[in-house]
Amino acid sequence: MTKSALQIARAAYQPKLPQALQGPVTAKEGAATQSVGDQADIQAMFPNTYGMPVIEFQRGEAQTLPAFNVGVILSGGQAPGGHNVISGLFDGIRSLNPANKLYGFILGPGGLVDHKYIELTDDIINEYRNTGGFDIIGSGRTKLEEEEQFENGIEILRKLDIKALVIIGGDDSNTNACVLAEYYAAKKYGVQVIGCPKTIDGDLKNEQIEASFGFDTACKTYSELIGNIERDCNSARKYWHFIKLMGRSASHIALECALQTQPNVCLVSEEVEAKAMSLDDVVAYIAKIVAARAAEGNNFGTVLIPEGLIEFIPAIKKLIAQLNDVLATSEAKQLTSPQEQIAYVKAHISAENLEVFNSLPADVAAQLALDRDPHGNVQVSLIETEKLLSRMVAAKLAQWKKEGRYTGKFSAQHHFFGYEGRCAAPSNFDADYCYSLGFNASRLIANGKTGYMSVIKNTTAPAAEWVAGGVPITMMMNMERRNAKMKPVIRKALVELEGAPFRFFAAHREEWAQTTSYVYPGPIQYFGPSDVCDQTTKTLQLEQK
Ligand code: FBP
Repeated sequence: MTKSALQIARAAYQPKLPQALQGPVTAKEGAATQSVGDQADIQAMFPNTYGMPVIEFQRGEAQTLPAFNVGVILSGGQAPGGHNVISGLFDGIRSLNPANKLYGFILGPGGLVDHKYIELTDDIINEYRNTGGFDIIGSGRTKLEEEEQFENGIEILRKLDIKALVIIGGDDSNTNACVLAEYYAAKKYGVQVIGCPKTIDGDLKNEQIEASFGFDTACKTYSELIGNIERDCNSARKYWHFIKLMGRSASHIALECALQTQPNVCLVSEEVEAKAMSLDDVVAYIAKIVAARAAEGNNFGTVLIPEGLIEFIPAIKKLIAQLNDVLATSEAKQLTSPQEQIAYVKAHISAENLEVFNSLPADVAAQLALDRDPHGNVQVSLIETEKLLSRMVAAKLAQWKKEGRYTGKFSAQHHFFGYEGRCAAPSNFDADYCYSLGFNASRLIANGKTGYMSVIKNTTAPAAEWVAGGVPITMMMNMERRNAKMKPVIRKALVELEGAPFRFFAAHREEWAQTTSYVYPGPIQYFGPSDVCDQTTKTLQLEQK
C-alpha cells in the first residue's frame, strides 16, 4: 500500500487509554439489570445472559493468564475507528499474554459461517493503526440468526481454539452478538461473545453508551463539506443546496451537522413524525423559508435532510409497515422481478396505503416496495429525497409565484453525503475511543464475561478520566416487529425532542433560517492545539452538560 504523508505521520500516534485500563484491572459489579422493555419476553429468550450486572473496571492486581485466542468480526456499515478497535483488542490481549492470537473473520459475520479468516499479526495490525475503513478484514451484513450458522461458527472457533468472539457492529449486529452469546452459553460451548458499539448513525446509545464510534468523525467530515458548500453558496448567492445526510433512521447526523454549520434549514425526522407532518407540510415548511429569504433578496441557502425522513412521515410509515408484512410472505419472496413485486404489493395493501403509494413518485414508491437489507430495513440511502423535496419545493414556489406570494429565483443543487464520511481517518476522539473500546473488550474476555458490550463513559472528560466497563446487551433490548414477526432487538436511540441538542437547535433555527449565519468548521485536525483537535461532537457536549 502506498501511504500518504498524513497516514505515515498518523501511524505513530499512540491512542490514549483511560487510567483504569493502563494496568491490571478488577471488575466492580453493580446490581442485577433488566431489559428496557418486555422484560418477561426477553428474560424467557435469554435465560443465560439476562439480568447480569453492569461492570466497571478499576485498577487491580496483576494476574498470570494462560494463553488464549480471540476472533473478531466487523459487521454492517463502515465507521471511522474500526481499525483502532481491532488494534486496541490486539494490544489488550497481547498485554495479558504475548502468546495470545487474534483471528479476523473476513467480510463480516459471513466469514464466521463460511470459515474465512486470517490471523492478525503484528505486521498487519501496524499497517492499519489510526486509519479509517474496515479493509483490514472487510465487513458485511449477513444476519446471524439460524442454528446452522451458529453451529458452523462453533466448528471454526473450536478449530482455531478461540475462547472469545468480538463483534463490532450497530444495533442489529449487537443483537446478533447477544443471540449468539446466549446460544453458546445455553449449549455450554465455552465461547464468550462481546459486542462493541459502532455506527456513524449515532443511534446506538442509551444511559450506558454515550456514543457509538464513528459518529464523531463522520459528522466532522460532513460538516467540513457542508461548511464548504455554505461558503460557496454565500459567495455565488444563486443556489439552494439540498444536502441529504446518512443516518438510516435517526436524525442524529443531520442535527449534529446543523449544530456545527448553522444551515438555513435542517429537517429532523423525529419532529416531522411527532407533528404528524405530511410530505406537503414538509415541502411548505422549506418553501416558506425560501420565500422569506427571497423577500430580502437572498435567493440562496442550504437545507439538510436526514436520510431516513421518508420513513418518519406518518402516512408513509404506515405504508412501509404494511409493505414489510406483505414482502415477508413466502409468496412475495418467490417473486424475482421488480415489476412482479410492485404489482404484488399493490394488490395486497389496504386502499388507504395504496393511495399513499400511488401518490409517491414512481422511483420512491418502487424503492419502498423492493428488497430490504438482511435485517429487514428499507434501503433509504437509495432514495433521492433531496431531489424529491427540491422538485416539490420548486413546484410549490411556482404556484405561489402565480398567486403573487413569492417573487424570487429558485435554482437547486443536490448532494448526498454518506459514503464520504464512513471511512475517514478517525478523529483524535474516535482514535482514542475506539482503541479504548477494543482494549476494554480484552478485559471483559479476561474476566470471563459473555453477552456484554464494551463501554467507555465520561467521554467529554480527558481520556485518562474515562470510565471503562461492560453492559449486558440484554439490558438494552425490547421486542419489535421485524419481517412480520416480533423479535428481540436493541432499542434504537432516536433524536429526543426534549433533549438538549434538539432544544438548542430549535431555539436558534429561525435566526439561522432568515440570516446567513453559516459556520465553516474546516477539515478535521489531528495535530495542533487541543481545542481544535480534541473537540467532541456538539451533541455529546450538550448531552453531557
Ligand atoms: P450501520 O447501521 O451498519 O452502522 O450502517 C449505517 C449506514 O451507514 C446508514 O447510515 C446507511 O443507510 C446504510 O449504512 C447504508 O448501507 P450500505 O452500506 O449497505 O449501503
